[in-house]
Amino acid sequence: MGIVTAIFNQAGGVAKTTLTMNLGYHLALRDRRVLVMDMDPQASLTKALSVDVDALTEDQTIYGPIVDRTELPVVHCPTFGVDLVPSELILSTATPKLAAVMARETRLRQAIAPVRDQYDHILIDCAPTVELLSLLALMAADRVLIPVETQWKAWNAVPEALRTLEAVREARLMFNITEPLTIAGFVPTRYSKTYEDHRATLAELRDRQTGAAAIAPVLEAVPNSTLFGKAFAANVPLALYDKTHKAVGVLKRLAAALDAEERP
Ligand SMILES: Nc1ncnc2c1ncn2[C@@H]1O[C@H](COP(=O)(O)OP(=O)(O)OP(=O)(O)O)[C@@H](O)[C@H]1O
Ligand SMILES: [Mg+2]
Repeated sequence: MGIVTAIFNQAGGVAKTTLTMNLGYHLALRDRRVLVMDMDPQASLTKALSVDVDALTEDQTIYGPIVDRTELPVVHCPTFGVDLVPSELILSTATPKLAAVMARETRLRQAIAPVRDQYDHILIDCAPTVELLSLLALMAADRVLIPVETQWKAWNAVPEALRTLEAVREARLMFNITEPLTIAGFVPTRYSKTYEDHRATLAELRDRQTGAAAIAPVLEAVPNSTLFGKAFAANVPLALYDKTHKAVGVLKRLAAALDAEERP
């Protein structure tokens, strides 16, 4: 049964989508069957994987399964070697639409259940919010990967993320979801070793006494590079944009670390 990983941080622009597309690619390179899901109405992941969002009907996006309980729409993306459940701006209307719906919190979990056996990894790219769309993703997930920029002030977002996870764990019990929701790790992103501030932040995070490592593993830091934006704009993973870039090895090792964890 596929393991469901939510890439979550309510802070915006911390590389959730960048990690989802690149880790999806590297997991697929490891011969894993990968589904990536776009849970953000901004639809950055959908666009990055070359899907024409303007041509999508509601039922061809994640909006359909969540609001109307239609079948999960899946598009194959050959460049990345993954399947995608697309998003579109209409997803921003799901929250008011579901306001009075019983058990709305488990709608995504229910939508994923029939396809879990078809994949080894299901990665959910979350929107930068703690509201319903992220709650749906976290109710469906087995574990959470939390990207955070490698600057001290960026870590101010982490306590709120952890409070959200605690609230979700309680909600899961109310819905008789007994499987744990674990933290696969923190991923320091946009790391520049030339900056003293970044080096100090990373060292403190890795200190098991005082840092994030006391809560969950602090995984390998993803270097800062403008090539991430260029690969994003070119609709390819970084490895296909510049296979010699040092960040490619980091992404490959992060994918291997995610792949090594036991399945539920
Ligand atoms: N390691 C990196 N080095 C430099 N730029 C990066 C890196 N990772 C991501 N970026 C850039 O940072 C920007 C934000 O990345 P991304 O869209 O992946 O973040 P996000 O967390 O998904 O944002 P949102 O919260 O809006 O969904 C993009 O322009 C992306 O190209
Ligand atoms: Mg994003």
